[in-house]
Amino acid sequence: MAKRDGHELTDSQIDWVIDAYTKGVVADEQMSALAMAILLRGMRRRETARWTQAMIDSGERMDFSSLGLPTADKHSTGGVGDKITLPLAPIVAACGVAVPQLSGRGLGHTGGTLDKLESIPGWRASLTNAEMMKQLREVGAVICAAGAGLAPADKKLYALRDVTGTVEAIPLIASSIMSKKIAEGTGALVLDVKVGSGAFMKDLGSARDLAETMVSLGKDAGVHTVALLTDMSTPLGNTAGNAIEVRESVEVLSGGGPNDVVELTLALAREMLAAAGVAADPEEALRSGKAMDTWRALITAQDGDPDAPLPEARESEVIRAPASGVLTRLDALSVGLAAWRLGAGRASQGEPVQAGAGVQWHARPGDSVTQGQALFTLHTDEPNRFERASQALSDAFEISSDANLPELSPLIIDRIS
Ligand code: URA
Repeated sequence: MAKRDGHELTDSQIDWVIDAYTKGVVADEQMSALAMAILLRGMRRRETARWTQAMIDSGERMDFSSLGLPTADKHSTGGVGDKITLPLAPIVAACGVAVPQLSGRGLGHTGGTLDKLESIPGWRASLTNAEMMKQLREVGAVICAAGAGLAPADKKLYALRDVTGTVEAIPLIASSIMSKKIAEGTGALVLDVKVGSGAFMKDLGSARDLAETMVSLGKDAGVHTVALLTDMSTPLGNTAGNAIEVRESVEVLSGGGPNDVVELTLALAREMLAAAGVAADPEEALRSGKAMDTWRALITAQDGDPDAPLPEARESEVIRAPASGVLTRLDALSVGLAAWRLGAGRASQGEPVQAGAGVQWHARPGDSVTQGQALFTLHTDEPNRFERASQALSDAFEISSDANLPELSPLIIDRIS
């Protein structure tokens, strides 16, 4: 009620409610009312910091100090075609920084790193803490699901927020992300805060607010934290889905891949290395093949076969350009929705996803296209999904014949430290 009426929550009120909710003493109905009051009224930095600490204290804290290596992690607030973790973790590990990357599954139109990796035959997302430590020592990088012991208050609260329309509160997003990252025990953290139609934060002001809140929470907890604000009005790379994004990531590790994916991967790698205090060139790790070796070792250590053919969807359909000109817009949210409708994502937690489903686009903003050329290829196991996916893409792009083209927005918009 204090928050509903616009008052600040005291430290002891915050400690109590998080502890009582985790134990089941505070019911979901009560917590959802509080989450809604926070969404509408906001929280001061002090309240957000205390809320984050209370969520950390609800579970275990991991400790990688026995590794004797600097550690760095990256977190993206989620986007469409965002496969960056896949090439990034092996690149940074190949440069001598251990990467304990706890990742999530997708929900709604944004994809999840674990769903993508699970399309690799045999690959396993769940590791014990002992397995994680062993892999960090032997391979240098691990990408896995957060164990049940890490910030259990957040697990429960995030699921509740998801079904009560209270995900989009900046203090709740910041504390949710940072409680997991601080409890995970990484020494350095680089945040990729997305802004644009395909992101949680649709405008620059709220993305900046979220980034600043998270950077200050990280620093207060002794984690070297930096954020990049990056564009998510256009999807990343040329694919959104699961196996098709793994394929694109492997292309990057082989020295190719789409320019924007390479640019963002290298920018985040440089930030992670700098934050961890290691002077190394991530481009050299790519060129020398060391990053690819680390990728193969990472997949193998988690029971995956890096040489196995990736699953392909049973059916595909092409959408062609209705006119000639220059592609001036490709909307991330629409592409994400199409991939989701094709079966690459899930509508509710725990649903299976199709490994082969997704969208491939054959032109990016700034590219010239010719009437009739393939603009998108849609992939799914269930052809009855094509119609709704195509509908999502009908307003997703613009082709202009005007010589005065609008300037393309930069991929990396700002840096907050
Ligand atoms: N990701 C999280 O982990 N938590 C949020 O609240 C939003 C995105």
